[in-house]
Amino acid sequence: MKETEIKIQWPNNTVTYASEGDDWFSTARKAGLEIPTGCLTGSCGACEIDVNGKTIRACISDIRGSKKCLLKVSLTTDPFWEK
Ligand code: FES
Repeated sequence: MKETEIKIQWPNNTVTYASEGDDWFSTARKAGLEIPTGCLTGSCGACEIDVNGKTIRACISDIRGSKKCLLKVSLTTDPFWEK
């Protein structure tokens, strides 16, 4: 049985495909991006990304979507940490 493919567009304009339930970190790596991490338990917010305008914490979220749905991802930036 073929798994559902979810098309994901990354901030560097790379497009990758993932399956429902894949994790965000390894999928981002396939696109050449590294999602920052901290606690990996969902409490620090270091891994926050925007998916279709909705902020999620990548360490506690799986990739969810439907066949026809394009997920547009942007990495959130915290001005406090920017130099
Ligand atoms: S790594 Fe801390 S919330 Fe995800």
